[in-house]
Amino acid sequence: MKLALAALSSALLLVSCTVPTIEQNLVNRAVGAMGGAERLAAVKTVTYKGSAKYWEPEQSDVPGGEARFANESSFEGFIDAASRSSRTDWVRNFAYPAPRTFTFSEVVTPEAGYVLGVDSNGRTAQSMKMNPPAHSMSGQRLATSHRELRRAGTGALMLAMSRNPDRVLPAADLNGQRAVTFDGYIVAFDSATGLPSRIRTLDYDNIWGDVNYDVVYADWKDVGGVKVPMQRRYELNGRLVQEVRLTDVQWNPRVDASKFEDPDEIARRAGVDLVTFHDKMGGAPDEVEAFQRELLPVIWELARDVPAPTPMPAQPPPFEVARKMFFEGPGNDPRSTILALRDGRPVGMTATMVKENGAAYTNFTGVARAERGKGIALAMKLRALRELGARGVKLFGTTNDESNAAMRGINKRLGYVPEPPTTMYEKRFS
Ligand SMILES: CC(C)(COP(=O)(O)OP(=O)(O)OC[C@H]1O[C@@H](n2cnc3c(N)ncnc32)[C@H](O)[C@@H]1OP(=O)(O)O)[C@@H](O)C(=O)NCCC(=O)NCCS
Repeated sequence: MKLALAALSSALLLVSCTVPTIEQNLVNRAVGAMGGAERLAAVKTVTYKGSAKYWEPEQSDVPGGEARFANESSFEGFIDAASRSSRTDWVRNFAYPAPRTFTFSEVVTPEAGYVLGVDSNGRTAQSMKMNPPAHSMSGQRLATSHRELRRAGTGALMLAMSRNPDRVLPAADLNGQRAVTFDGYIVAFDSATGLPSRIRTLDYDNIWGDVNYDVVYADWKDVGGVKVPMQRRYELNGRLVQEVRLTDVQWNPRVDASKFEDPDEIARRAGVDLVTFHDKMGGAPDEVEAFQRELLPVIWELARDVPAPTPMPAQPPPFEVARKMFFEGPGNDPRSTILALRDGRPVGMTATMVKENGAAYTNFTGVARAERGKGIALAMKLRALRELGARGVKLFGTTNDESNAAMRGINKRLGYVPEPPTTMYEKRFS
C-alpha cells in the first residue's frame, strides 16, 4: 500500500510538473490570439512597408520639455526566418538638426550588419572609400538591430516563448497588465484580448541612466490568419520617441503571374516575338549554328552593359568556346531561356538555368539599347516564370548589382525578395 501511495504521489508530481505556469498560460493564450502556433510557424518570409516618426526628448528647448520632432521615414523590407536575416530600405527625411534626406538600406544577418548608402553626416572611413558608399555596422548597432528586429517580429517572439517555456519567467505587472520575462524582454498582455500589448527592455541612456524602453502595440490587423500590430509606439521612460505605422505586411510572398499582363501581349505591343531557346535550337544544325553566330555578338554587347565592378572584354571569346559557354552548357535551360526577336533578329534574351536541386536561376537578362523601356525584359521573365511555374519550380533566383536600377526594378515588380548581399572581392596581379 505504501508503495502504491508512493507511486501515486510521484505520478501526481509528474502531472503537476507538466501543468503550465501562469506565465506560460499567458504566452499560450497570446499565441492562440495571434492565429495559433501552426500559422505562426508557417511564416517563413515577411515583406513589410510603412512609415515612422521620431522625436528626440533630449533636444527639447527646456529640460524635460516637449521632445523635438527629428525625422519622418518611410521603409520597405524583408525578413527571411530561416537565415535570420533582413533587409530594410529606408528613406529618412530629417527635420532636425537640419533638413536632409538619407536613402540607405540596412542588412542584418546573425553575424554581421551592413549599411548600403549614406545614413549619416558622420561617414566612416569605410563609407568614404566604398563606391557606392557602404559600411559595416558597429557591434553596438548590430546588437541593437538584433534586439529590435526580434521585438518587432511579434509572432516569432511569441512562438519562441511558447516553445521555450522554461525561459518564460514571472515579472511584475506592467501598467496594470500581467507580464512575463523572456530573454531580456518583459512582455505584458492585454487581459481582454490575450494579445501582447507592450514589450519592454531595460535600457541605458547616457543622460537619464537606466530607462525603460517600451513598444506599445495597437491597431491589430489580420494578415492571412495571423494578427499583426500595425501601429507600434515606442516610449523611452514613458515618453513617445518613435511611432511606426505598417501599411503593408505579407507572409511568404509568391510571384503571382496573374497580376501581370500576358507576356506575349506585351511583346506584341513592343513589336517583338518571344521564342524559347528550345524552339530556336531545334532546327537543322547549320541553321542553329548560323543563329548562334548571330546571337553571340548581340548578347555579348548586352552583357557588357551589365553594371559590374570589372568591365567585360570588348570581344567575345571565339565561337567554338562561346558555344560551349553560352549555348550548350548546363547554364542554359532551353525551355525557360527566352529570346525576343524583331523581324527574326535577336534583340533580347533571358538565360535561365535549372539547378540539380530544382531551383532556377537567371544567369543573364539583356535587351538591346534601342529596344529598352518597352517591357521586353519584363515579358521575357514572365514567360520564363510561366514555364518554371508549370514545371513546379519553387525557387527562382538571380543576382543583380546594387546599382542596376532597371533590373532590380523589374525583379522587385515581379515580387523577388532580396537576400543578404554578396560582396565580391578582386585581386589584380599586375
Ligand atoms: C535591365 C534591362 C534588361 C531592362 O530591359 P527593358 O526591356 O528596358 O525593361 P522593361 O522595359 O521590361 O522594364 C520593365 C520595368 O522595369 C523597371 N525599369 C526598367 N528600366 C528601369 C530603370 N532604368 N530604372 C528603374 N526601373 C526600371 C520598371 O519597373 C519598368 O516598369 P515600367 O514600365 O512600369 O516603368 C536592360 O536595361 C538591359 O539590357 N540592361 C543591360 C543588361 C543588364 O544590366 N541586365 C541585367 C543584369 S543580368
